[in-house]
Amino acid sequence: MEAPSIWFLRANLLFFIFTTTSSSLFDSISQFQSISDGKTLVSSGGKFELGFFSPGTSKNRYLGIWYKKIPVKTVVWVANGCNPINDSSGLLSISSTGNLVLLGKNRSVVWSTTSVKQPQNPLLRLLDSGNLVLKDENDGNQESYLWQSFDYPCDTLLPYMKLGWNLRTGHKWSLSAWKNPDDPCPGNFTYGIELRPHKYSEGYIRQGNDKFYRTGPWNGLRFSGSPELRNNPLYDFHFVDDDNEVSYMYTLKNESLISRLALNQTTSTRERYVWIAADQTWEQYISVPRDYCDKYGLCGANGKCIIGQNPVCECLEGFKPRSQENWNTMDWSQGCKRDLPLSCQEKHRHGFIKYVGLKLPDTTNSWVDNSINLEECRAKCLNNCSCMAYTNSDIRGKGNGCVLWFDDLVDIRLIPDGGQDLYIRMPAVQPERKTEIGAYDKVKTAGITVAVMGAVVSGMLILGYCISRLRTTASKEKIMINEIVSQNNGGRKEDLDLPLFDISTMATATNKFSMENKLGEGGFGPVYRGMLKDGQEIAVKRLSERSGQGINEFKNELVILFAKLQHRNLVKLLGCCIHGEEKMLVYEYMPNKSLDSFIFDPKQSKQLEWWQRFQIICGISRGLLYLHHDSRLRIIHRDLKASNILLDKEMNPKISDFGMARTLLGDQTEGYTNRVVGTYGYMAPEYAYNGKFSIKSDVFSFGVLMLEIISGKRSTGFHHQNDGVTLIGYAWTMMQEGRPFELIDECLRNSSQNLSEVLRCIHTSLLCVQQCPVDRPSMSSVVMMLAGEVALVQPKPPAFFMESNGYFEADYSSSKHLSSSTNDITITILEAR
Ligand SMILES: *[C@@H]1O[C@H](CO)[C@@H](O)[C@H](O)[C@H]1NC(C)=O
Ligand SMILES: *[C@@H]1O[C@H](CO)[C@@H](O)[C@H](O)[C@H]1NC(C)=O
Ligand SMILES: *[C@@H]1O[C@H](CO)[C@@H](O)[C@H](O)[C@H]1NC(C)=O
Ligand SMILES: *[C@@H]1O[C@H](CO)[C@@H](O)[C@H](O)[C@H]1NC(C)=O
Ligand SMILES: *[C@@H]1O[C@H](CO)[C@@H](O)[C@H](O)[C@H]1NC(C)=O
Ligand SMILES: *[C@@H]1O[C@H](CO)[C@@H](O)[C@H](O)[C@H]1NC(C)=O
Ligand SMILES: *[C@@H]1O[C@H](CO)[C@@H](O)[C@H](O)[C@H]1NC(C)=O
Ligand SMILES: *[C@@H]1O[C@H](CO)[C@@H](O)[C@H](O)[C@H]1NC(C)=O
Ligand SMILES: *[C@@H]1O[C@H](CO)[C@@H](O)[C@H](O)[C@H]1NC(C)=O
Repeated sequence: MEAPSIWFLRANLLFFIFTTTSSSLFDSISQFQSISDGKTLVSSGGKFELGFFSPGTSKNRYLGIWYKKIPVKTVVWVANGCNPINDSSGLLSISSTGNLVLLGKNRSVVWSTTSVKQPQNPLLRLLDSGNLVLKDENDGNQESYLWQSFDYPCDTLLPYMKLGWNLRTGHKWSLSAWKNPDDPCPGNFTYGIELRPHKYSEGYIRQGNDKFYRTGPWNGLRFSGSPELRNNPLYDFHFVDDDNEVSYMYTLKNESLISRLALNQTTSTRERYVWIAADQTWEQYISVPRDYCDKYGLCGANGKCIIGQNPVCECLEGFKPRSQENWNTMDWSQGCKRDLPLSCQEKHRHGFIKYVGLKLPDTTNSWVDNSINLEECRAKCLNNCSCMAYTNSDIRGKGNGCVLWFDDLVDIRLIPDGGQDLYIRMPAVQPERKTEIGAYDKVKTAGITVAVMGAVVSGMLILGYCISRLRTTASKEKIMINEIVSQNNGGRKEDLDLPLFDISTMATATNKFSMENKLGEGGFGPVYRGMLKDGQEIAVKRLSERSGQGINEFKNELVILFAKLQHRNLVKLLGCCIHGEEKMLVYEYMPNKSLDSFIFDPKQSKQLEWWQRFQIICGISRGLLYLHHDSRLRIIHRDLKASNILLDKEMNPKISDFGMARTLLGDQTEGYTNRVVGTYGYMAPEYAYNGKFSIKSDVFSFGVLMLEIISGKRSTGFHHQNDGVTLIGYAWTMMQEGRPFELIDECLRNSSQNLSEVLRCIHTSLLCVQQCPVDRPSMSSVVMMLAGEVALVQPKPPAFFMESNGYFEADYSSSKHLSSSTNDITITILEAR
């Protein structure tokens, strides 16, 4: 008896609602409602409208979404793009199974959705973001949708819409341009993110199956080839790469602005537009491809594109056109091949040319390990003959992770304002390459901004040539080097105090520089272990022939150590060997390698008890005191860090690697440089920012080193694992909160230790890392503090502490100085692999 009346009531209600919908004030419909041609839904804030439309000159009807507020009809989404309705019979409703159904003529299904779950109380709503969502009203979770139009982008990417992949479902979010302005059916011009097995994804625009444009891989800050992705007044961008999804998304800084990213088949471009209300028009904000060089693979394999150069294509250094004939006619598609083939037998003598400011090559044949650093990356690349290039996979801060490329390098271009470093493999230099080196120099002076470390100087360049470019301050030092040079030219051997070894002695001692004798790879060449005839063990650092920066460091180290430095806490130079292109430094051998191999290694660190650590700290402090105050020259080391502290068989520390050291004359206590070299995490702020180095910037590095020895934690990268808090900041907080002992390396906690010593060390290190150089103690005070001979004052807040992101800012600003000299950052010797 009741049933008919309920039906009657419901029918009435439906009729009522249905008629109200037609006035366009509703943003949603439920199961028993529908939208027919002529009626629309409008989002609650009035930004978007859903309804039927005919594009361009076409008479076909499509269901779509467009901006409600602007007079130029701009459609951002289409349901039945390839299946138009050719009259006004279209009707959108929610089917009994809870799916959207678009019916056309004669009630035929033109378009429909498939959702996995059957909803109890489905509701279709147009959100103010432009997203058309189907949800179950009985599901309390506002964010859970059965279906949403944002999952099926057409040619337009709106804010909050994702481009990429849902890795849980395998669903791809990509854009496809309309065939033409009259036909919204997807054409063959598409834009999406392509997955790589090693999560080094990049975006491609394709024309059919052909690659048309590449964004470059995500490098932590932006897509490598997309310098436009930088801080801008209009939008923020977000990239996610985790187990759930790989996606790119942007959001507008001011929600009242209107902006869209659209793919256009007619113009073969991807454009960002902004609505200019004053002019009532869409203004183009950026259009990709930006220029000729953005065209995918324009210069072929192993070529690079330089916009503004004529012709725009050029082979990479050490490569020549595969077909000179075609190249001359500006057909670069065949690309370039190596001048000299790479010989795999000689792989360990290969080197790398460093390029800066590049869009990284196509990542199709790449391999990524985000857990290793650049040095390890280099070694990994060197070890595999088919590895052609490497660089950091993440360029945030100092840079991290490793990416290797195999086979040909494709689609490289120069991006002067935001490109990246790339290290490209080169064969060992042969003497007959002289002319090419010269040719390269010419290119460089012509103003090309590609800084190629390692390529500039080769074995052929005689030392004297370099000396004219040497920027050392003291003329006295130049004289000393000249003495070596003249000796090299058959001059005055007897003037030199430093023993000179001949090349055959070196070859015998190191068993012809055999692989088994190789201890590691320093920044400017390999280091070998050797034994002299008298049984003395030595370490031989060999300047690799193509290491450009290396020769400066080689000379610098000679100059410094040549200055008759003698201290038990400094590594001892036994002599050198200069034979034509070969240049080597000979040191005493340190059986226990470097300090970092102990304190940062979970196993090895257990072997280093507190008393030994304290002895090492004291030893380093005495060595540094000698450099700063007691030696003939005042020497600033500038790159004090754990890997530059070597340990002899009794675990006595020896400061090594003077490649970046500077001497100050007389009573001078500070100097400036516009080439900041050093290692992040150890650099004093005034040095990192302003290039001002002094004995106090070394004191700062010593403070950091002490904290590392105490805590067993690396300063470099510490903030990545600790919410942006630096090691220094962490030590300061622990001290302030009265729990300094939590800083101590876990593996020391149970061993007996002298807590008053530990506390004194932490306190002293905090004094060393104070923000202001004048507040920091000199090394003579530090030595007394460590000995417990003076009372310790309260430290002022350290540098790189403060807000959690303080360190990042430091990173950015100094990375500018560093961009051209990254090679300098990690010069280590005697480091076993
Ligand atoms: C509409 O399309 C149908 C086939 O889908 C076709 O038979 C019919 O002629 C078309 N009508 C008009 C007016 O174009
Ligand atoms: C319309 O639908 C009816 C029944 O479903 C069918 O018999 C008829 O052939 C259809 N007409 C057209 C033009 O498709
Ligand atoms: C893409 O489609 C257009 C016409 O729509 C055609 O001219 C062009 O050849 C196609 N390109 C590719 C690579 O398929
Ligand atoms: C956002 O843009 C509107 C219109 O251009 C402007 O009036 C408003 O002040 C802007 N809001 C902010 C926070 O900048
Ligand atoms: C594509 O470019 C054509 C020609 O400039 C233009 O008329 C059309 O509106 C553009 N399409 C989109 C989606 O911006
Ligand atoms: C070098 O790398 C390639 C590509 O990853 C790999 O297939 C090959 O096995 C590697 N060779 C060696 C010797 O590791
Ligand atoms: C240091 O080297 C010496 C000589 O090789 C060795 O006997 C000693 O065990 C090493 N010390 C540590 C802590 O590894
Ligand atoms: C230290 O000792 C405690 C108990 O004596 C033990 O639970 C802990 O695992 C030890 N820690 C280390 C690092 O040995
Ligand atoms: C701790 O070291 C200080 C000097 O460094 C010494 O005077 C004191 O006796 C030591 N205490 C212990 C328990 O070893």
